[in-house]
Formats: sequence, C-alpha cells, structure tokens
Amino acid sequence: SAAEKGGHEYFMLKEIDEQPEALANTLRGHFDGGRIILDEQRISDQDLRDVDKVFVVACGSAYHSGLVAKYAIEHWCRLPVEVELASEFRYRDPVLDRATLVVAVSQSGETADTLEAVRHAREQKARVLAVCNTNGAQIPRESDAVLYTHAGPEIGVASTKAFLAQIAANYLVGLALAQARGTKYPDEVAREFAELEAMPAAVQKVLSTVDQVRDLGRRIADSKAVLFLGRHVGFPVALEGALKLKELAYMHAEGFAAGELKHGPIALIEEGLPVVVVMPSPKGRAVLHSKLVSNISEIQARGARTIVIAEEGDETVRPFADELIEIPAVPTLLQPLVSTVPLQVLAAEIARTRGYDVDKPRNLAKSVTVE
Ligand code: G6P
Repeated sequence: SAAEKGGHEYFMLKEIDEQPEALANTLRGHFDGGRIILDEQRISDQDLRDVDKVFVVACGSAYHSGLVAKYAIEHWCRLPVEVELASEFRYRDPVLDRATLVVAVSQSGETADTLEAVRHAREQKARVLAVCNTNGAQIPRESDAVLYTHAGPEIGVASTKAFLAQIAANYLVGLALAQARGTKYPDEVAREFAELEAMPAAVQKVLSTVDQVRDLGRRIADSKAVLFLGRHVGFPVALEGALKLKELAYMHAEGFAAGELKHGPIALIEEGLPVVVVMPSPKGRAVLHSKLVSNISEIQARGARTIVIAEEGDETVRPFADELIEIPAVPTLLQPLVSTVPLQVLAAEIARTRGYDVDKPRNLAKSVTVE
C-alpha cells in the first residue's frame, strides 16, 4: 500500500531514501571502544590473525560490494583478496585451507550458489565469515562468524540500501582484520575508520541533490544503451550502475574499467551514446584522476554524451562533462558509498520513464534459491 511505501511510488525509491539510516544502523553496534566487533564469532582471534588469504564470494550486487572490499582489504591488511562469483567458485576447485578466510556476502542469506560456496569452503577447512542482512538465515547459520548488516527488510528486487550496507560491512571486516593483524598504514586506517561514521551524512547530502539526476534520467530514457566507466573502487560502482540499469530499465548497459577503454569499449562510442564516468577524487588518487580526465575527453571527442560523477569542486572535469553530477568529498576507498547513489536514482528514473515497475523487474527474483 501507499502507507507501506512511506509516500513513495515504489519501495525501491523509499529504500534509496533510507540509505543514510541503513548505513548508520550497520555501523552502529559494530564499534566498541574503537574496536570492531562481529555479531557472532565461532573462530578464535588467533585464527583471524593466521589468515593468509581472503576470498569474497557472492552473487549480483553483493558481488560488486565484494569487489570494493578487495581494494580496501588488500590495502589496509596487505592480505591477498580474490572476489569470486559464488556460482564459479565451487566448481573451479579453489585452493582453500585453514588459513583461508571466505567472506560470504548475501542480503537474503539464502542465495543457493553462495550457500553452496560456503559449504564447499567449510569442507575444505576454510573459515567462513558471513555478511548478511537477514537474521538467522541459512548462510550465517552455516558460517564460523557473522557480521549482520542492519539495512532493514528490502522489498525492491534490485538491491539498494542492502548493497550500501554490504559495502560498509565489508569495510568493517577489513578493519577487523587490520586490528587483529596490525596494519602497515595505522594513521590511514584510523582516519578511514573515523570517517566511516560521517558517511551516513554524506549519503544524505547526495540524496538532497537527486532532482538533477532524475531530470537527466528522463532525458536519456530513450537511449539504446548506456556505458559506465570507472577505475579503482569506481570500477565496481560502474558495474553496479550498469547492473541496475539492466535489471530495471531492460536496457543494454555495460560497466568497464576505464583503463580498458582502448582495448575495446571505445569502439562502441558513437554520436549521442550516454557514457557515465565515475571520477576518483582529484586529491586522493591524482594519477588516476588525470587518466580518467583524458578518457573523458577522448570519448567526448568521439561524440559520446558524457555524464560525469565527480567530487564537488573538481573543476578539471567540467569542460568535458555534458552533465556533471557532484558528490561530496570523502576518503578514496569510501567513495562507492556516495557515488553509487546517483546511479541507483538514474536507473530507477529511466525505468519509470519507460513505464516499468521498478519494484518487480521482469524475470528477476529477490532471492535466487535454486542453483
Ligand atoms: C538477486 C537480487 C539481487 C541480489 C542477488 C544476490 O539477483 O535481485 O539484487 O544482489 O540476488 O542476493 P543476496 O541475497 O545473496 O545478496
């Protein structure tokens, strides 16, 4: 009913708006006097210290949250992290042992492929930590440790607030590992740890500017395709932006690592094709920033309609941006929490303009419980 949707036309739009709260709730309760606490831990601290390799296994948007985690955990913890689609993991005969930590990320906790990946990992004696939004679901029940996201129930089939909460929870996993094992960058880790608490407000700020994105969505709703480019943590955000558009608007959409542009995607650029580019902060990773600026100028010169998501005050991108969507300045590794939001709004608005039900996209299920 309309009341359940809190005055919104769709649950998804309500859930997009609930993201600051979902994020705050996920962070709250896991901080204890400056330390990260898991909700359930059936492995010893020593086992956590002995971890020498991490796999993140997940499906769909949860997989994209894992790709973000790779950048954070490898940097903070100097541990190798592989991110695997759960459906590929088990059948590939991955190399697992007691010193392997498998992080299984699942909103529902019931996704069949992810559950089977967990079972396979445990048979191989790996330790499994579940990141899950559903209390007592099968995946957390079968795991050695659990960190719950507290995004609240998600009704919209395409994940939004649960996805942001998964990203935040994955950062907490990285910080917990950094605390257990020590880190090469204590100052940076302490800073990012502290900045996490400011992220709900940063997301709120993005939400206050979505009218521009909705207007843009209506104007590009009849495009045949949309490309998404990003680098570093912006790459998984590009993949997620493309997935949302496929799921909701049934449009051809692809996300690419911007560094791969010249290895293929640039051949797709034609007059008027919308290309969304997720820019890193000009302060954080200056080298990547300048490489992306040159990517944008190249695609714009070939006729693409450039839609640039950039940090507020980033003047260098302005000449190359047909549409500029500004997001608040946040630490580099945390940027996906803010840069994802305009892409969710964009996909929802394009789908609405095309006349689709954004809560129940055709052929999709909220939770895929068969392999
Ligand atoms: C389905 C949903 C997606 C979700 C994926 C993984 O495909 O439509 O939104 O990302 O399942 O679900 P999980 O519950 O394991 O996070």
